[in-house]
Amino acid sequence: MNFQSMTRRQVTLLGLSAMVTGSFTMAQTGGAGGSAIPTTTTRRIRLPDGSLAPSLGMGSWRLGQGRRPITQEEDAMRTGLSLGMDLIDTAEMYGSGASEEMVGRVIAGRRSEVFLVSKVLPSNATTARGIRNACTSSLKRLGTDHLDLYLLHWRAQVRDLALVVDTFEGLKREGHIRRWGVSNFDVSDMEELFSVAGGKACATNQVEYSLAKRDIEHDLIPWSRKHGVPLMAYSPLGSDGRLLRNAALSEVASKHGVTPAAIAIAWTLRDGSTISIPESGSASHIRENARAVTLSLDAQDLTVLDRVFPV
Ligand SMILES: NC(=O)c1ccc[n+]([C@@H]2O[C@H](COP(=O)([O-])OP(=O)(O)OC[C@H]3O[C@@H](n4cnc5c(N)ncnc54)[C@H](OP(=O)(O)O)[C@@H]3O)[C@@H](O)[C@H]2O)c1
Repeated sequence: MNFQSMTRRQVTLLGLSAMVTGSFTMAQTGGAGGSAIPTTTTRRIRLPDGSLAPSLGMGSWRLGQGRRPITQEEDAMRTGLSLGMDLIDTAEMYGSGASEEMVGRVIAGRRSEVFLVSKVLPSNATTARGIRNACTSSLKRLGTDHLDLYLLHWRAQVRDLALVVDTFEGLKREGHIRRWGVSNFDVSDMEELFSVAGGKACATNQVEYSLAKRDIEHDLIPWSRKHGVPLMAYSPLGSDGRLLRNAALSEVASKHGVTPAAIAIAWTLRDGSTISIPESGSASHIRENARAVTLSLDAQDLTVLDRVFPV
């Protein structure tokens, strides 16, 4: 049985309200737990400029660099796109451009389906010319004329946030980027960003967030909610594989008939206003990860996970 539905629902969780839109195509398979396996999944969150972005995407930090045959990794990313994981995160840093080149091959001929994110290195972000040259090079490697989102990768030596905002806004006006944001900013960095002219246009802050790393719940998450800045969670699977071997996580996964990876990703999406960007070079892992947007963790699941992974 196939069915398709469009939903627009108010998600209220953890004291947060966010407008979420979703489109799901499900195939009933009688698979694990007898649950439906998604063939297409897209859920979107609203960004500060009013536009929508997919809540589940794909990272690419270690892709395109010889860990696996390149065709396998490209096939994995195409699988993710076919399942609605249509946000791709990359950066000029990843493989010194090799990741962007791989993403460029994957999105060739289907650019309009993809919400494309890349990042400028701080070492290139101390001058307007540095940012502009980095953006031009990324666009060339990606084979496109615009990014949907351009981020400052981390703060480091970047003292002049006004210059960064000004340059990003210029790139936006000229059509090279649709919006801009930051990454690895803490509360004091965000306050400084909000104090410069135009700084409040920041579309997202991409930060490390997973069951294994919850420290931002103390400060950055409350600050971001208060100021309406959506977060983009990187390393949602804990990056090194240890999180996915946890017994409590496996227990919750069995209950839902999915893998621990799907639960770990669903947990990062639970507030309805966070984007999650797990990375995988394996098509079968990508299929598991795509299940995350179809899951709703209940109070009992959250209690089990809170006990094992305290804030
Ligand atoms: N802004 C920043 O400073 C920053 C920093 C780090 C990362 N990032 C971004 O966030 C993305 C994700 O972060 P990450 O790569 O550190 O960590 P992650 O997504 O938490 O974990 C990736 C690892 O999990 C494995 N994996 C994926 N799906 C799996 C599954 N279903 N079952 C078992 N293992 C699975 C992957 O191996 P396989 O390939 O074998 O599936 C890979 O080794 C990066 O690619 C990058 O785009 C940004």
